[in-house]
Amino acid sequence: MRRVAVIPGDGIGPEVIAVAVRVLQTVGEIAGRRLEFVEFDWSADRYLRDGTTLPADAPAQLVQEFDAILFGALGDPRVPDNRHAAEILLGLRFGLDLYVNLRPCQLLDARLTPLRGRSEQDLNFVILRENTEGPYVGLGGVFRRAMPEELGLEVDINTARGAERILRYGFDYARRNGLKRLCMTDKSNAMPHGHGLWQRVFQRLRTEYADIEARHLYVDTLAAELVRDPGQFQVIVAPNLLGDILSDLGAQLVGGLGLAPSANLHPGRIGLYEPVHGSAPSLAGRNLANPMGAVLSSALLVEDFGWRREARAIRAVVQAAIRTGQTTPDLGGSQGTQQVGDWLCNELIRRGLPED
Ligand code: NAD
Ligand code: IPM
Ligand code: MN
Repeated sequence: MRRVAVIPGDGIGPEVIAVAVRVLQTVGEIAGRRLEFVEFDWSADRYLRDGTTLPADAPAQLVQEFDAILFGALGDPRVPDNRHAAEILLGLRFGLDLYVNLRPCQLLDARLTPLRGRSEQDLNFVILRENTEGPYVGLGGVFRRAMPEELGLEVDINTARGAERILRYGFDYARRNGLKRLCMTDKSNAMPHGHGLWQRVFQRLRTEYADIEARHLYVDTLAAELVRDPGQFQVIVAPNLLGDILSDLGAQLVGGLGLAPSANLHPGRIGLYEPVHGSAPSLAGRNLANPMGAVLSSALLVEDFGWRREARAIRAVVQAAIRTGQTTPDLGGSQGTQQVGDWLCNELIRRGLPED
């Protein structure tokens, strides 16, 4: 039996997570596996009601009582400074020390890419985003608030340990998956201190992993190359903020934010699985959100349980839905969020589990 903590969150989060949970329940049933879901209401509603963001004992409780966390999205126009989202999502990433943010960018159907003449083989890379450092740590402050001379300071933290562990994860990931190429990106030409450190760690590690073809691109060049010739990339390792931006670019290259999954990981510990997209307030409550990013995130979740056939089954029905046009409007279809969920679950039952 595996226990999954579910944090639906704000906006379209609850709608896409409801579909992901149904898909997980269905795949569990056809595989004869027991899954238990417990929902947590950490969200803008809860914050506005009683001030709760992430309870202090939440990280410890999640570690003790659960095997995985499934997360929707946070962000609500009623909380303009995004405080609850930072405290809950970043609180969990930092509190659980989930230093890997794994964001696969895989083209499931050639019709989905905005790039001319590209097919499934040309777009299949993973972004490994450092997830516990950079300007995300919340160090800084504001001086002379609301005065004409106001100053805002955000400290960009980079540590040798932080850079080394995500780069090492990247090299090991490449080896584990039979991949040959790794690209490390930074902005060390403009940020010689913090990103110069990444360069030094990278140069040291690449000699240790001589079997992997390792290269470096400044992030601006990488952005351009990803559009010009995405087929050259297999594994991309990026500092936190750069990885955030690149992963929306990568998502768009393979069909848009509605499709992109992610996993926040620390090997050997509980992981947090979430679509890359946000709470999309303009779509919320309208049965318009694409649930596939959340569903593909749940495939990453079961894969980390070691349930490989279940993960393949989920990916196969998502791909089949795309191929046959059973999609929400962002992918050109005319189905609602829930109807896509119905189709995916029926198709899972119809097909059963794939052979090993
Ligand atoms: P967003 O990802 O919510 O939306 C960007 C665009 O993509 C919008 O046009 C939206 O309609 C579309 N989109 C996103 N998800 C979609 C889906 N599943 N199906 C169809 N279309 C989809 O980003 P934003 O508008 O910049 O942010 C909205 C809020 O979400 C903000 O408060 C932001 O801070 C928050 N946010 C949260 C997370 C997270 O919780 N992990 C991630 C990104 C943004
Ligand atoms: C993401 C989001 C978050 C991030 C925001 C909501 C803080 O954009 O998960 O990509 O920047 O990490
Ligand atoms: Mn983002």
